[in-house]
Amino acid sequence: MCGIFGYVGPRRAAGPMILDALKRLEYRGYDSWGVAVGIDGHVGLSKRAGRIGDAVVDLPDACIGFGHTRWATHGGVSDVNAHPHLDCTGRFAVIHNGIIENFRTLRSRLESRGHVFRSETDTEVVSHLIEETVGASSEPCTVVEAVRQVFAMLRGLNAVIVLDTVTQQLVAAKNVSPLVVGRGEDAAYIASDAVALVGHAREVHYVEDREIVALGPDGVQFYDSATGAPRAAAFVPLTLREADMSLNGFDHYLIKEIHEQPRVLRRIAENYAEPVHHLAELISEAYGSFLIGCGTSSYAALTGSYLFSRIARRHVNFAVGSEFKYQEHFLTDRSLVIALSQSGETADIIDAVMAAKRAGARVAALVNVPGSTLDRLADFSIHLGAGPEQSVLSTKSYTAKVAILMLTAHVLNGSEHVGREHLWRAVDGVEQALAPASVQRIQEIAAYMADKEHCFVIGRGLSYPTALEAALKIKEISYIHAEGFAGGELKHGVIALVEEGTPCLVFSPIDETRDDILSGAMELRSRGGFIVGISPEPEEVFDIHLPVADVGDASPLVGVIPAQLLGYYLALRRGLDPDKPRNLAKSVTVK
Ligand code: AGP
Repeated sequence: MCGIFGYVGPRRAAGPMILDALKRLEYRGYDSWGVAVGIDGHVGLSKRAGRIGDAVVDLPDACIGFGHTRWATHGGVSDVNAHPHLDCTGRFAVIHNGIIENFRTLRSRLESRGHVFRSETDTEVVSHLIEETVGASSEPCTVVEAVRQVFAMLRGLNAVIVLDTVTQQLVAAKNVSPLVVGRGEDAAYIASDAVALVGHAREVHYVEDREIVALGPDGVQFYDSATGAPRAAAFVPLTLREADMSLNGFDHYLIKEIHEQPRVLRRIAENYAEPVHHLAELISEAYGSFLIGCGTSSYAALTGSYLFSRIARRHVNFAVGSEFKYQEHFLTDRSLVIALSQSGETADIIDAVMAAKRAGARVAALVNVPGSTLDRLADFSIHLGAGPEQSVLSTKSYTAKVAILMLTAHVLNGSEHVGREHLWRAVDGVEQALAPASVQRIQEIAAYMADKEHCFVIGRGLSYPTALEAALKIKEISYIHAEGFAGGELKHGVIALVEEGTPCLVFSPIDETRDDILSGAMELRSRGGFIVGISPEPEEVFDIHLPVADVGDASPLVGVIPAQLLGYYLALRRGLDPDKPRNLAKSVTVK
């Protein structure tokens, strides 16, 4: 999960332009960064550990260059391990997203043939393999052919770009890890995510696994990765706009995207009847359906499982994406796998979906990035339409997925109008939860919690996955150890952890779980817990009551808002970056 951006076009200050584009990709990894340009047969290089921040690159104007932001996998966070990586001669530079699983074998063979490595990374083997392949063959071997041959040696999910300073080409290949090529007025670009192409490219092509792509003085060419034969590739207009990418007056992307949720949910309530009906039909036709996701998407999937049970009396299985391969024995050619993913690039989900397809199962996707790997693998995709989600934290894509699953459950139940009514009530409820009075309450709770080490979050039934998601929102940007539990689990061990003043968030909607969850709150309170009740009604057991609207089946859409806001204000109070939490990246494209 790294950020990649490349440029080929008229001679210009390519270095600063590339560095600026990389800033849009830092959500994919920000351990280090690097920029290289190609000048008359050698590489101009600037790279270092740490975030880009206010860094500048002092490189000569060039017609070709690329850059990389890194989320470290092999080799620690250091200047020397930052990409790009060069070969022995300095003619080639390489950047890479993914993991080369067989790099140790490749490296030892290269070292035995005299290649000198500078870094600890897996990536650097590619630059030396390219050097060797271009130079070793009896007849001239183009860099395109060398990339084709070398990429076939690599094991794992990877995207690789090679800069050849002699032919002034960028040549790329991929296996599952994303790459998108863009064409502008007089230049060509390549990136790991279309967001970096906004303001540069007018049309894009999402690179396929069986393609090698070369950007050079003669434009953009595509080749078949199996045979090396030239192949055609279709470009489509780039629909992302600058306005989608900017902060629009907010201090951080996270708070901007939290506040975009009413608009996203309104759009779903108004325009998603057709895709929702199609998903309902697929579920009806299937003999066994599975909802899968990772992280926040797994909690949306688990919420869906409860919604289908509660609303449509239908059993739709749930599995965490990374665990699905240990459960896929159930899959048949009549199974349906419904994969949830904001990025559409999460390796655990791609892995699970490819296993499902091998078993003959049908795959539906709820995905936010059109053209992403999941979007292209799925037999049927519902695009969330939430707009670019640039904070590492998933917020608007989460509520979008839950809303779509709730509507689908109601369609299955023949109560579509009820589902839409609940969704419209939830839009109002989300707006109430975002109102200044609610935000003020959240900030007071953040003030209380900011110096706490632990926080427990409980919910039952439909609020259990909401409790899990709430805990994730808090832990991943405040670094407070927040844990979500099924309310009934307290007495099976969890309650041993509660001490005087431990903050305990209790989700208590007006539904069948209320009495039991309130007794759980009393158990926590009696052992010193500080009870924050997220509920339409106040209760004596709450030390602080956070009012939320009563919206029936849509309660997960409203209940999660206070937790999103709490995570944000806790991060601010603790002096942390709400958009780029430590060790995390937006798209986990490695297993
Ligand atoms: C959520 O806030 C986290 N950033 C993380 O759990 C994320 O939801 C997970 O990595 C899955 O990402 P995806 O939805 O893009 O597949």
